[in-house]
Parts: sequence; C-alpha cells; structure tokens
Amino acid sequence: MTPDEFLRGLPKAELHVHIEGTLEPELLFEIAARNNVTTSYSSVDELRAAYEFKNLQEFLDIYYEGAGTLQTEQDFYDMTLAYLQRAAADGVRRAEIFFDPQTHTDRGIPFDVFLTGIHAATVTAERDLGVSAAPIMCFLRHLPAEAAMATLEASLAHRDKFIGVGLDSSEVGFPPEIFTDVFAKAQAEGLHLVAHAGEEGPPEYVWGALDVLDVERIDHGVRALEDATLIQRLVDEAVPLTICPLSNIRLGGFARMEEHTLPKMLGLGLKVTINSDDPAYFGGYVSENYIQTFEALNLSLDQMVTVARNSLESTFLPETEKRKLIGELHTYVTENRP
Ligand code: ADE
Ligand code: ZN
Repeated sequence: MTPDEFLRGLPKAELHVHIEGTLEPELLFEIAARNNVTTSYSSVDELRAAYEFKNLQEFLDIYYEGAGTLQTEQDFYDMTLAYLQRAAADGVRRAEIFFDPQTHTDRGIPFDVFLTGIHAATVTAERDLGVSAAPIMCFLRHLPAEAAMATLEASLAHRDKFIGVGLDSSEVGFPPEIFTDVFAKAQAEGLHLVAHAGEEGPPEYVWGALDVLDVERIDHGVRALEDATLIQRLVDEAVPLTICPLSNIRLGGFARMEEHTLPKMLGLGLKVTINSDDPAYFGGYVSENYIQTFEALNLSLDQMVTVARNSLESTFLPETEKRKLIGELHTYVTENRP
C-alpha cells in the first residue's frame, strides 16, 4: 500500500465541513436547472474558473450565490448524500457537518425543507455507507445577534436533527462576544458548541470563543500561534483545532502548503485535526487535505495517525463509540502501515 492509499483509508472523522461548501458545480447546475433558477455563470467551467479567491470574503460571496440554487428537500438530500459518499470513500467514519440555516431561511426556505433533507441523507449514510453523521447549525456572524437568536428559537422544533451550534461567515469585525446570549441559550438546550475563530481574525477572537462562548472546539484557530499564552491554554485543555489546510491556502492564509504552520502546531502539542471546510471550492476533500499536507510538509505517517486519532477523539460521539472507532484505527494501522 502506498502512503497515499494508507492516508485515504485511514479511519478518520471530519469535523469541519460546510455542507453548502460541498456543492460541486455539476450538481449546482443540475439543481439550478430543475429549479428554474439562473446564476451569474453560464457553465460548469466558467464557474470553476471563478474559484480564485484573495480572502475569505471573496469566497463567501460566490459560496452564498451557489447555495442560493438550493430549494427543495431533495436538493439538500442530494447534496448531503453526495458529500457522504465521498467521505465514505475517504475513510471518514464520522462527519459532523455544518449547515447555514440563515442562508436558506432568508430566501424563504423553511427549516423543515433543508434540515429534513440534510438529516435524511445522514440516516441513509449511516445505513448504507457505514458513516455516522450529525449536523451542526452555524449562525452567520455578519448578521445581528437578534437574527441568530431567532434562528436558534426556530430550530428548536427540530432539536432532534442536529447536535450543536457554530459560528461562521465573515470573521474580522464580528467578534464572538456579540453572540454571548445565543450561545448561552444553545448550551442551556444541551447543544454542543463550536466557533470559527482565528481564521482571519486575531487571537483575541479565540480567547473570546473559549472564555465567553465556552466552545468545545475551535474551527481553524491558525492565528492562535501568535499568542504564547493562548497556545498554552489550548494545549493544557486539549482543545481540538479543526485545521483546514487547502482552505487556508486557497483563502490566502499561507502562500503555499509548504508554509503551513501545521507541523509547528503538532510540535507544540496542540490537538490538531485535518478537515476540508468547503471541498467543492478549495480543490480537495478530507483525504486530499491529509495527502497534500503529508507531502508538502514532510510529516511522518505516525504524525498523520495522530491527526486521525485526534479527529476521532474530538467528535461529539459517546465515549464507547469513540473507543470503538479508535480501536478500528489501531487495527487499520497495524495491518496496513507501509
Ligand atoms: N463558511 C463557509 N466556509 C467558511 C469559512 N472557511 N470561514 C467562515 N465561514 C465559512
Ligand atoms: Zn469553515
């Protein structure tokens, strides 16, 4: 088995993927056609050619336009199942999947439509693909806290279909503290808490996510490296960081994969995981992120196994299920390590 094959088959969890960011141009155009909606792009090739981003905002503008083609429960089901099929082929045993409800409710698409479609695909994947999957609802931080609170309240009728809340969209200028009350209410409802922080925003936003929002994982967190006290805190508390290497390159966080600080993070003892973020836009699903990171940064296979183990340990699964998956990882490594 080659190292690439080994990395692809490695049992892993994906903890940072936006379902709207998995909508491949081919499916996007198919869905747009059946819904009789148009986009600013006339073909799959033209759309793909537009995937050149200088920063997060340039990406978000095109990502929200793409998500605007989704209308029916079937659309959300098809998109989610397509992602889960790719995830299964990538060794993913557990996927905790972000969705952006406000991108849909603000266009008049109700929770019942998108969450039912997303959830139904997770049930199919569990039954047919051996992938356990659970949605996490993200609030758009560029919209007011009142809108997030209204979204949380509306979501509670569907409390059984998602496991947690997160915070995404444009980071700089929208610190976590804005959403203190929303996260407190979500916590009181027994939901898991995560937040994007330190992607483009400063280390202070990571502090805010930890101290004020009380999140269990930090999404991205690459800029935490600028603050030694923060690094110590993240190490001491073993706070998982959901790093998305290809996303960081495509959005300008690092010029080249060779410059990514992931090896430094591992060396510091941070609980690093590797994820895809928006794979339809950033040129690769989770295994591609593992492979490109491994190759460009001269990581060892032992380090990659640590990353996979970190991902399984950082899921929101019950302890017994985590242990089972970690056992599966050990068996896989023993039998297949090149
Ligand atoms: N929404 C989708 N992808 C995102 C990212 N990388 N950062 C913030 N919001 C997002
Ligand atoms: Zn993200």
